[in-house]
Amino acid sequence: MSVTGRAGRLSPPEIQARKGGEPLVMLTAYTTPVARLADPHCDMVLVGDSVGMVIHGLPSTLGVTMEMMILHGQAVARGLNRAMMVIDMPFGSYEESPAQAFRNAARLMAGTGASSVKLEGGEHMAPTIAYLVARGIPVMAHIGLTPQAVNALGGYKVQGRGADGARIRADAGAVAAAGAYSVVLEKVPDALARAVTRDIAIPTIGIGASAACDGQVLVVDDMLGLFTDFRPKFVKRYGELGAAADAAIAAYAADVRARRFPAAEHVFDEEAKR
Ligand code: KIV
Repeated sequence: MSVTGRAGRLSPPEIQARKGGEPLVMLTAYTTPVARLADPHCDMVLVGDSVGMVIHGLPSTLGVTMEMMILHGQAVARGLNRAMMVIDMPFGSYEESPAQAFRNAARLMAGTGASSVKLEGGEHMAPTIAYLVARGIPVMAHIGLTPQAVNALGGYKVQGRGADGARIRADAGAVAAAGAYSVVLEKVPDALARAVTRDIAIPTIGIGASAACDGQVLVVDDMLGLFTDFRPKFVKRYGELGAAADAAIAAYAADVRARRFPAAEHVFDEEAKR
């Protein structure tokens, strides 16, 4: 059987093999046009459950459903050629039992063409990760600040300060031993992220963690300056697209109100001449 893969997209083993090598570039995407923009520059594109807050205006990721993830996953898949697609398991879709996690992970992958799922949790999720991996589902783990646990954590706070660092190191060791091919480390101190990156044999993907991680991930709307309601302090902005869009919409509104709208008729005439 000749296997060409999904139009040349990177695979989880190829991502895992980048441990300690060239840093892995990862961004979120929720739509086809943004996936198309990210694809040539990124190794991985994450259909994050941040879609709930970024696109749907939800107050947290807790209200995100399987149906939302599948719909956005299908849109993102249409925009990818090279980057590997990872899809988040939404809150409530995997915590109950390994069997529940398998059912929903299989649904996400079969319904979208994603190469891997991502789920939140450390030591306590290790049996579920092992169960999924043994059944052909590559898992990216997510530890440190786990947004689906925002209520239990008392907010979007830095995790692993002081003695709590030992818990995060144990979480990282447990998810790696369970067979995760990489792990997102969110909002932990630099020294801890460095230690975890040294400790484990799978790539660490940092977000608000350390430049020493094996890769980085950002929410695309944050780094483009599009998402104005919530601005994580650690995110470097590479654009101010929200401000640019606001100015463009204001200019459009001013044109309409001043009846400065260009007549379309001459365009129709030119089209007719062709
Ligand atoms: O949902 C998401 O966007 C994420 C990233 C912040 C890692 O999980």
